[in-house]
Amino acid sequence: MKYRIASIKGDGIGPEIVTQAQKVLNKTAEKFGHEFEFVELLMGGCSIDVNGVPLTDETVEEAGKCDAVLMGSIGGNTATSPWYRLEPSKRPEAGLLGIRKALKLFANLRPAYLYPELKDACPLKEEVAARGFDMMMIRELTGGLYFGERYTKEIDGVMTAVDTLTYNENEIRRIAVKGFDIAMKRRKKVTLVDKANVLDSSRLWRKVTDEVAKDYPEVEYGVMLVDNCAMQLVKDPAQFDVVLTENMFGDILSDEASMITGSIGMLPSASLNETKFGLYEPSGGSAPDIAGKNIANPIATILSAAMMLRYSFDLDKEADAIENAVRQVLKEGYRTIDLAKPGEDQVKCDRMGDLIAERI
Ligand code: IPM
Ligand code: MG
Repeated sequence: MKYRIASIKGDGIGPEIVTQAQKVLNKTAEKFGHEFEFVELLMGGCSIDVNGVPLTDETVEEAGKCDAVLMGSIGGNTATSPWYRLEPSKRPEAGLLGIRKALKLFANLRPAYLYPELKDACPLKEEVAARGFDMMMIRELTGGLYFGERYTKEIDGVMTAVDTLTYNENEIRRIAVKGFDIAMKRRKKVTLVDKANVLDSSRLWRKVTDEVAKDYPEVEYGVMLVDNCAMQLVKDPAQFDVVLTENMFGDILSDEASMITGSIGMLPSASLNETKFGLYEPSGGSAPDIAGKNIANPIATILSAAMMLRYSFDLDKEADAIENAVRQVLKEGYRTIDLAKPGEDQVKCDRMGDLIAERI
């Protein structure tokens, strides 16, 4: 089969890590008799430099015409980059939020899995790491605080900033259904994470998700407050299978979940709409401090490419091949700088891409 993949390399380490994922995809195509055509598109800071805006209509339109989007990362150093002297709606992050909204990518899947080979890199207590964990964080991506009305103005002589958090029942239901559907293919457990002891929006999340849960009698369903979840993730992450939550909580908890896997450089993600279309990107950021040094960990991006094959193209065997190749290099002891223990040999970004591609 032939697939067209929009490639948004973006800023910072984005170009380096996406190039490695393309290398692995090309090897997979060769091995399994497919063809992947990459359509290079600009978004984020690199788009600001060329077009004056972080996201153009052309990028949205071209991306939408492809079969899926593979993305690196966007943004720069918020303290020093000139991009952050622009007004907020013109900054790199606005491009990412804009494309999520424009392509209706409401379901963000962030798996956090502790590879047995990386137990040493896990910052948790040994007995917690020994139990391992394998969870799927499902974050609502096009609603809530990120997309509510916001403004800063003087009210009664006092400078005041307002951000609004809105969810309607339809937005909650469609992501809850996604969460339960995914749980059915996993260990059949869903934990809804909210702040229902304080927020009205969370109380609606509970009501709607309780209703959806009734359609999935096989799934063990529970609720947890977000502050408790932050604690449970470091105390007993093995308890989680699918974690279902709103946009802002999911942003924060997914970084926590990724860190306990050993490195944020390991965590892939998929952002899906109602169809098979999706945008696939590593959960980590653009890491401007290490950009261009060829030391970034490309594994999260390579695993994101595997998710693309699985979720958008239904190429399960091919996705398995990529995931197995990643497991193999880890088993053989290859480590990028973020994973290496002091004194251990470090593999560069492009070499890690080669090693994984060779094992497809
Ligand atoms: C993420 C990132 C983005 C988000 C930023 C860059 C806007 O942190 O994908 O988690 O908050 O969604
Ligand atoms: Mg984040």
